[in-house]
Amino acid sequence: MISKKALLATMGLSLSVLLTPAVAQNSFLSDSHVMKRVQTQQKYLLLPVEETVDYSHIRVIKNNKVVKEFNCKLAINRTDYSVPLNLNEFGDDVLLDIQFHGEKRKTSEIKDYACWNEMKTSDTFDTSNREKYRSAYHHTPLWGWMNDPNGMFHKDGVWHLYFQYNPYGSQWENMTWGHSTSTDLINWKFEGEAIQPDAIGTIFSGSSVVDNKNTAGFGKGAIVSYYTSAGAAQTQSMAYSTDNGMTFTKYEANPVITSNLPDFRDPNIFWHEETQKWIMILAAGQQMEIRSSTNLKDWTLESTFGEGYGSHAGVWECPDLINIGGKWVLICNINPGGPFGGSAAQYFVGDFDGHKFTCESAPTTTKWMDYGKDHYATVSFNNAPDGRHVVLPWMSNWQYANQVPTKQFRSANGLPRDLGLFSYKGESYLTTKPSPEVFNAFASKPDNKLTATCYIEANNLKHGATITLSNAKGEKVVMTYDAKKETFAMDRNNSGQTDFSNEFKTVTVAPTYGTLKSVLIFIDHNSIEAFDADGKMAMTNLVFPNEPYNKLTATGCKTKIYQLK
Ligand code: FRU
Repeated sequence: MISKKALLATMGLSLSVLLTPAVAQNSFLSDSHVMKRVQTQQKYLLLPVEETVDYSHIRVIKNNKVVKEFNCKLAINRTDYSVPLNLNEFGDDVLLDIQFHGEKRKTSEIKDYACWNEMKTSDTFDTSNREKYRSAYHHTPLWGWMNDPNGMFHKDGVWHLYFQYNPYGSQWENMTWGHSTSTDLINWKFEGEAIQPDAIGTIFSGSSVVDNKNTAGFGKGAIVSYYTSAGAAQTQSMAYSTDNGMTFTKYEANPVITSNLPDFRDPNIFWHEETQKWIMILAAGQQMEIRSSTNLKDWTLESTFGEGYGSHAGVWECPDLINIGGKWVLICNINPGGPFGGSAAQYFVGDFDGHKFTCESAPTTTKWMDYGKDHYATVSFNNAPDGRHVVLPWMSNWQYANQVPTKQFRSANGLPRDLGLFSYKGESYLTTKPSPEVFNAFASKPDNKLTATCYIEANNLKHGATITLSNAKGEKVVMTYDAKKETFAMDRNNSGQTDFSNEFKTVTVAPTYGTLKSVLIFIDHNSIEAFDADGKMAMTNLVFPNEPYNKLTATGCKTKIYQLK
């Protein structure tokens, strides 16, 4: 049968004349229920969002079947921004069944809600948006909400980053794996939604492996991903891709791993060479479960780790287990309970024999990967080249992530970092350095202009050295090195906008484990990341200056500034 589109094209008629207005009528069925028929040849229905109202539940119905459902804060009083519902996959005629929830809706008659006027069809959705706090050289979603990085891997020269994504608003909801790719870890291309919610649950965090030996039977080099299906229970499900991570097929026997624990999530998988097995580490309540498999489908519980070790001041989440030069590092993100409140990443150094992780430090020892307040859910890329251990953080904190002053998108990733190890007074710690790719993004010749997108190299740091970034509005960030206490601190109390949360103002303090010789300070529109050039310290903090800091005042050190190319 010839499609309506083709028919119109052959008739040489202008679609815009025939199909305006594209949105057919609404049927108001009660004070909380609307059915809306959408007949259009256009690609998107733009949904107006108001962030302070309650969620509406939207079911997309095609031929009497639900083909998609999600929650969206449809605007009642005014529109903050719009999000696109892609109609392409459903054809030119769908029915939306919309239920409004909560008390806020009672402020006006349903037929007068702001959303009806601005719910428009369109062939385009503007993603060129340059809000003043959108990062220039950190990954951000083009629109919508992002939290944890998920399922990251490297293959054929391409870095794949999946992430916890809400395409229908800039706050946490409708968890889906978004997907972006990059060849240089700096410039990212949004590839759309890779794994969408289903009848088992929304799609929480997880990991991917490149199955080079075809152990799972999906083909040599297939990408096999595990994620948490978050329904009434948290269970672990699998999906695989035979086109290098661009599209996924969900495994028909999902969920693969179940438990009656309420917090049971974030599977992270890697190949263990010595035992020739896949290992999965999984957050299970207040500890990590370690499982093994030969085929990525059948898993044997090997051991647990964590009871009595490190910080238990919050929920254990997003684990990783990495072999760095013969020692094993177990990463355990924890929320709340971070050193400055809220979310943070702790880690343990020890040994792993394919069955059991043994921590080499006293149980009471707590080590943090990053001493800022905006570094969370950090895990590594699978299959990274040259034996590198490249990790990527989510650059926010659950205390205020949903409130930070951005609109059409929320959250960025921290800079990619390469991990190593160093020892200090008998303990092993992680070294964290900006990945080499980061430096390629900056001019090789320094100048002395502080801008919204640059990095500062501060050398020959002396005791009491201070580095202050400020603007004409009197907003500033002050960094201080105390060689006697062996600490580096960053004060963002007067950094700009801070009143969106009582938890934002803070001074973060890092141990420097001996002398801090040089510090590298990366500035983007809404973030400052300080690294010991030798890797012994990392500190990642968000800032929201009303205008960019343009004045650098440094004492007790020598500074150079490198501009983003
Ligand atoms: C960590 C986390 C994960 C979970 C995901 C849900 O930030 O809570 O444990 O899988 O976010 O979005």
